[in-house]
Amino acid sequence: MRPFACALVSAFVALLFLSPCAAANAPRQRLSLDAGWKFHLGDKWPVAARLDKAGASTGPAAAAGFTDVTWRTVDLPHDWAIELPFDKAAEINHGFRAVGPGFEANSIAWYRRAFELPSADEGKRIWLTFDGVYRDATVWVNGWLMRHHEGGYYPFREDITDVVKFGEPNVIAMRVDATKFEGWFYEGAGIYRHVWLEKTAPVAIAPDGIFVYSQFKDNVPAGEAEIHVEAEVLNHLIDAVDTLVDCEVISPGGQSVARFSGSQQVTGESQGTLKLQSQVTSPVLWSPESPKLYKLVTTVSVDGKIVDQKETVFGIRTAVFDPEKGFLLNGEPYPIYGTCNHQDHAGVGAAIPDALQEFRIRRLQEFGCNAIRTSHNPPTPELLDACDRLGMLVMNENRLLGSDSENMRKWDVMIRRDRNHPSIVIWSVSNEEFTVQGTEQGGNVARTMQSYVKRLDPTRPVTYPAPQGDTVGGINSVIEVRGWNYHPGPDMDTYHAKHPHQANVGTEQGSTTGTRGIYESSPERGHVAAYDEPPHRWVTSAETWWSWFADRPWLSGGFVWTGFDYRGEPTPYSWPNINSHFGILDMCGFPKDNFYYYKAWWTDEVVLHLLPHWNWPGREGHEFRVDALSNCNEVEFFLNGASLGRTSMKPNSKLTWKVKYAPGTLSAKGFDAEGNVIAEAKVETTGEATRLELTPDRNTINADGDDVAVFKVAAYDAQGRFVPVAQNKIHFALEGAGKIIGVGNGDPSCHEPDTFMANVPVRSVALHSWRWNQVPVESPGEPVPECAPGFEDSNWKILDGENTNWPRTIDASDTTAIYRSHLALTEEDLSGAGVQIQFTGCDDEGWYFVNGRFVGETHDWNGQPAFDITKFLRAGDNVIAVCCRNGGGPGGLNPSVSVDIALRPEPVQWSRSLFNGLAQIIVQSTRTPGEIKLTARADGLASDNVSVEALTSEPRPEL
Ligand code: GAL
Repeated sequence: MRPFACALVSAFVALLFLSPCAAANAPRQRLSLDAGWKFHLGDKWPVAARLDKAGASTGPAAAAGFTDVTWRTVDLPHDWAIELPFDKAAEINHGFRAVGPGFEANSIAWYRRAFELPSADEGKRIWLTFDGVYRDATVWVNGWLMRHHEGGYYPFREDITDVVKFGEPNVIAMRVDATKFEGWFYEGAGIYRHVWLEKTAPVAIAPDGIFVYSQFKDNVPAGEAEIHVEAEVLNHLIDAVDTLVDCEVISPGGQSVARFSGSQQVTGESQGTLKLQSQVTSPVLWSPESPKLYKLVTTVSVDGKIVDQKETVFGIRTAVFDPEKGFLLNGEPYPIYGTCNHQDHAGVGAAIPDALQEFRIRRLQEFGCNAIRTSHNPPTPELLDACDRLGMLVMNENRLLGSDSENMRKWDVMIRRDRNHPSIVIWSVSNEEFTVQGTEQGGNVARTMQSYVKRLDPTRPVTYPAPQGDTVGGINSVIEVRGWNYHPGPDMDTYHAKHPHQANVGTEQGSTTGTRGIYESSPERGHVAAYDEPPHRWVTSAETWWSWFADRPWLSGGFVWTGFDYRGEPTPYSWPNINSHFGILDMCGFPKDNFYYYKAWWTDEVVLHLLPHWNWPGREGHEFRVDALSNCNEVEFFLNGASLGRTSMKPNSKLTWKVKYAPGTLSAKGFDAEGNVIAEAKVETTGEATRLELTPDRNTINADGDDVAVFKVAAYDAQGRFVPVAQNKIHFALEGAGKIIGVGNGDPSCHEPDTFMANVPVRSVALHSWRWNQVPVESPGEPVPECAPGFEDSNWKILDGENTNWPRTIDASDTTAIYRSHLALTEEDLSGAGVQIQFTGCDDEGWYFVNGRFVGETHDWNGQPAFDITKFLRAGDNVIAVCCRNGGGPGGLNPSVSVDIALRPEPVQWSRSLFNGLAQIIVQSTRTPGEIKLTARADGLASDNVSVEALTSEPRPEL
């Protein structure tokens, strides 16, 4: 808006509302802290966390005296488990990655991030938020121990105002411990979600402090919608303040449709919640088919001055689980075509970029999926944003059942954070609590959790995914919506008859297994034929569970286990099988055959799909099972043009033939009720692969360093036919303003890397051989000849620290001594990212020199300083000297010193084999606009290249 126009508008609304222009100066800023973290796998600093003195942490946790120059630079989200090799000795359900119990060296890592706040920020509140870290996280800010957080799936936040410095460098350090597992599926490791730094005025909206929801009379979406707002305002000032809270509702079309306000006094150093109410007439309803979003703009002012402003996206809709009618969305029966999903994708593991969340939802929507269950943990907020935007219902699931204070805190955090999302229609207390679900205590805990929800969210019911049949008692007897994990069949009818006032939903169904493009099972290769034959007692085929549910609307529909394959749980196999086969889509989102079963019965599109492929050289005459997945009334099969018969299709079923293999074309025609051909399909025996084809999911992405394009590479024969058995190894090269961040192919037994890191090899040298002598030094920071390279120290005492604990060499108080050691370096050593030296203690104070030049000092005998000494070094001999001053008792240098030399990064060559004709490459933009060109090459095949354009765009505000 032009300034003049703005001034006019301001004058116009001044009486009712404060100016939107003034709001632009409101101090709230939400800045991404995703870029430029330093990362170190392994923990060499067992005493970094000091509990005896405030702010006195050491090693990487310290504010000063530590360099991370040789550490790898990573951007978030980051999952280091994906970078580790597979190991047969590792845990099967976590996908055999060399992390967790038994792999301690790979299970703890450190992250560090420097940032600066301008002096002008002084007086603001500074908040640090981690959306999710796997798993045990200890956070320091400027050496102050800020937080120990357990639990890999919940956000945590700290007000760090007291310990940050304005106009000076600050550092966040974090030790992340993924040694313990929380689930029974791949969980990742590291800071795998976003990190934010927020600045607010001392009087501001509390974190997650806005709750907006709509209600209709009798819960029927007719007439006007009542809009309820709860605004929590924090006052960090000592005195009470009178706050004015203005709310403005902006319609999906951008019109202001409601304005209302209220005031409250908030006492000093406290917070207050204001409840406001208004109406929106003729509201535009949110639904998956029409995901229209409203926006609430909340403005807080004190003494006529805007102190905070926040936008909250919400939707207007009703969602009800009715015992007789099943799920009703906006008053109408709305069967849930749902899938359960873990947060895991090919190439990137748990660290899913926002654009990939959107990619995944779009793939689910392609077969009619309208709901996801965030099994078995709260998701990252960006997944919920994408569900709001793209139209996907959500069952939001808590990790663990528990009514103790810590579990209730997590339950509270999840609901407060997520309750504005219109996509969420139900909360789940947790999944399959076998041990306690049938007990009185289990029921008590679930009841407490459920009634707590009513305080935070009056709009949504609660369920529990129960792996039980016609069983009441414990959780089932108290939970509002009976969740059904498996057990489709008469138990459901009996239970429903006995509990007619309890609503139901199929929380988890199917667990069908199949590998994409595989039609003969092989335990050795870890591949399951994709005919959807249940391998286990508790598993039912898509047809079995869905036809049961489709006939019983009161069940509300259900969620399939799973939408996407995920790492771990390689049921029914084990090593070398490293990921699950449950998905309707594979790890990359490529459709398996079941995709077409669901598409046939969950969408209105005409579907006719045949399986298997028809490339069986040497198997002529062998009888193959052939299936048609279709919603046509009748289907007629042909082999090489000859009819094999015409059969009618029952609703929610599929058709199966036996066909003797002969190369050529297997085809089918689908007919409608009047006998018209409405669909045709064929599978052909193809030739060898001769060429590759690359296809991106989008032609343009944002040049914001965040957005991704997902490329498919596929193999075709000389006649242009997709080759469903091609397994060629493909090499990728990228030119321009992007980077490859991960590759995959959907093979549940492929042990090729997901990611090829620009590995920075680090050469570590142990410096434990020292010469030392007591030397009186007046000003220890000044260079003295005893610290210089040429000094003759051969008659000094020897201190060999190898295999010894810290020998206290200075036995007198108020004494100085000098310690000298040598470090031999080559030109190559000096050509990399840098060299750092790590000390493990100098009792009581130390001054450190390299080649006679002063490097740094410590005044804490327990400190573990690390210095960047790159600029002091030369090829050949280098002298490291420490002047140590002992205050009281025995003291001296701990001779256990190490030097890390970061060598030049090795060049990276990305590759991945095709699995049954396909592989995936995930490419992320940089901040530079322009062409991103990807090339795929394979021996003996014509290569392909394709470009996407990275368009100039605003990166999200960052620090
Ligand atoms: C369910 C469980 C899921 C997954 C699935 C495999 O019982 O809830 O997390 O383990 O079995 O079939």
